[in-house]
Formats: sequence, C-alpha cells, structure tokens
Amino acid sequence: MMEEMPLSADVIRSLQPYDLRVLLALERLMHRFEWVPVEDLAGATRLSLKEAEYRLGRLIERDLVRFDAVPYRGYALIFNGLDTLALRALTRRGTLRALGSLIGEGKEALVYEGLGVAPVAIKFHHVGQRSFQSVRLNRDYIPERTHCPWIFASRLSAEAEFEALSRLYPRVPVPEPIAMERHAIVMELIGGTTLNRAADLDHPPVVLDDILNAVQEAYRQGVIHNDLSEFNVMIDGDRIVLIDWPQWVGPDHPNARACLERDINNILTFFSRKYRVNRSLKQVVESVVG
Ligand SMILES: Nc1ncnc2c1ncn2[C@@H]1O[C@H](COP(=O)(O)OP(=O)(O)O)[C@@H](O)[C@H]1O
Ligand SMILES: [Mg+2]
Repeated sequence: MMEEMPLSADVIRSLQPYDLRVLLALERLMHRFEWVPVEDLAGATRLSLKEAEYRLGRLIERDLVRFDAVPYRGYALIFNGLDTLALRALTRRGTLRALGSLIGEGKEALVYEGLGVAPVAIKFHHVGQRSFQSVRLNRDYIPERTHCPWIFASRLSAEAEFEALSRLYPRVPVPEPIAMERHAIVMELIGGTTLNRAADLDHPPVVLDDILNAVQEAYRQGVIHNDLSEFNVMIDGDRIVLIDWPQWVGPDHPNARACLERDINNILTFFSRKYRVNRSLKQVVESVVG
C-alpha cells in the first residue's frame, strides 16, 4: 500500500453528491475488479463517461482514489477513500460530530480523535498486502479469490476487535465500544498514554497487578489478547486500559497457551527491566489459567 495523507474534514466537506456517488460505486465494483474501468463506473452511476472521468479526477486530487494504466486503464479505491466513506456514514448516523487529530499510527491502523456524544477514538483498520498473509493464516474463511483482500481483511480485523471489546467491556478495563462502520470502530477515548511512553510509575507493582488481573478476567471471558505488551496498555492517572484487540484468540485456539504465555511474558519482561519488579512467569500463567 502507498503512503497516504491523513484524513481531513475539509476534504470530506468538499465532496459533492456526484463525487460520492462515484466513490460509492467504485467501492462496490472493487469486489469484481482490481482496477475498475471508467465505463463500468459510468454505467453503475448512470453518469456520462465525461462526467464520471471528471469526478474521478476530483477524487484522485483528494487522494481518495488511484488510477493506473497497467495492466489496463482503471481506477481503484485506496485506504483514504475507504476511511472517508466510513467517516461519512458515521457522521450521517449521528455517531460522530467532528473529526479531530491523528493520535495513533501503527502498521495496521490509524487512530483519530473525534467527537460524538463524548470524546471518542476512531480506529481505521488498514490491513495491507504484507500483513494480509498472516491474517489469512489465522482466519481460513477469507475467500481466496476476492479481488480486494485488503478491504476484506481490514473489515475482518475491525469486526474481530469490536467483538473482543463488546465481550470484555465493562468487566475488563478496555475502551467502551461505541460503533462499527465498514473497517472502522468507534470507541471511548482514553486519556494518558501507552505504558512504554508513560513517565515513571509511582507504584509499579500495583499497576502490574492491575494488568495481570485484567488479563485473567479477559481469559475468564474467553479472550486472550495475543499482542499484549507495554505498547498496548494505556495508563491514565492510575487507571490502566488494555487496547488493540484485533488478533485476539479464544482459549480453544490451538496456540492459546503459547499466546497467553507470550502476552504475560512481554508484560513481566517490561516490568522487570524498567522497574525491577520480578514475578515468575510460570506462577503467573498458572494463576491466570487456574
Ligand atoms: N481508545 C483509545 N483512546 C486513546 N488512544 C488510543 C485508543 N486506541 C488507540 N489509541 C492510540 O492509538 C495507537 C494505535 O492504536 P492501536 O489500537 O494500538 O493500533 P496499532 O498498534 O495496530 O496501530 C495507540 O498506541 C494509542 O496511542
Ligand atoms: Mg498497538
């Protein structure tokens, strides 16, 4: 996937009804083509070829769509365009009133601040070609012949994360899930920062216990994080919140035990290195499972 510009509310506001009609048609046609010919877009939108081309030009200018002449002349939706469609739908549903700044950028997601009824975080899942391979290993129900695996995989990833949050909230300290739209989820905005960037903790053993209790409670609810580390624990004052759940597995997964051990080991290693708080991996794992 190409580098893309961050989303902007101005760009979304500048889209005219015909621009949107073309963008939505392109999204639908991406199921059938890797590159959608302009003739099909014109047919699907009932616009003239000239009008469709003009609209596509506007969408390309705004970095929502790509054109390529190879292997044949055609247009493709890109993540920025998909994000825009999700954002617009969330706004129309009344879930979102304003888009704020980019607050997180990982290899598989962009996270923005936003305003709904209360401040929210909007996470757009971007599962690209590279990481699609591993998604396919974990989830054998991705159709092999889909033309746009990245749209499909990104949506699955959002669904998986939304499901975990819904199962866990409020018993486990995770962001409250608010809405899902396409490949995007809206959740409670957590203050503070991730543990790896946080200032030195006042009471590291207490924070460690809070995290391990959360891991245990999640396990009881049938959810193993599977990517837990200091990067995915937020700390806001003395409240901890576990974030970033798309790759969770259940206790019946063939690698469940190894995933759980790695999660716990990552956390114990961080606390041991940074705070000299040491716990036995074996004992912690046994108490979580037991
Ligand atoms: N609910 C949230 N509230 C506040 N910040 C968040 C929230 N979710 C994610 N973030 C921020 O966005 C970053 C990336 O989100 P994350 O879910 O970890 O995705 P990834 O690591 O796959 O990019 C986090 O490190 C965090 O700084
Ligand atoms: Mg993360």
